[in-house]
Amino acid sequence: MVTTAARDDSFNYRLWRYDGAPGELIPLLQSAQDHFGYIPRRAIGYISGVTGIPESEVYGVITFYSQFRLQPMGKYVIKACDGTACHVQNSRMIIDTLEDELGIEVNGTTEDGLFTLSTVACIGCCSLAPVLMINEETHGRLTPQSVRKLLREYRRREEAARAQQGAASCGDRA
Ligand code: FES
Repeated sequence: MVTTAARDDSFNYRLWRYDGAPGELIPLLQSAQDHFGYIPRRAIGYISGVTGIPESEVYGVITFYSQFRLQPMGKYVIKACDGTACHVQNSRMIIDTLEDELGIEVNGTTEDGLFTLSTVACIGCCSLAPVLMINEETHGRLTPQSVRKLLREYRRREEAARAQQGAASCGDRA
């Protein structure tokens, strides 16, 4: 059963209840992102169609606020800490290394859909600065070298998982 609270927050509910009151677009975009995991092109079309706000304007709001994403999140979400303790331990260099190695900027997702890079203000492990999280795993006392090694390790794990899946599906057909 859908609760009233869940229904009130849903994208469809908000969309069809839209009455043009000021400030309604942001919560509408937030609910679209909660629903899809990002804001797909078709959601921008729905929003524009129902609200009468031109797509270009909706797109402008999305790109203005860093909380909104136009791409799905990667399988591995990297949260690089740029809080004070990490900052003084050169977190900028860590973030630059991540951007360089992944070929994306902060808030981007790699083309293979594997990694999304974001920054956070504090992970709560300041004594391990500079720190990052990949999904639920925390990694600290980072250097550019250890970051490169870490990414290689995740890529290796991913390749191994794919190879195993491939072998399993071949086994299914045997
Ligand atoms: S400032 Fe980075 S973990 Fe606290």
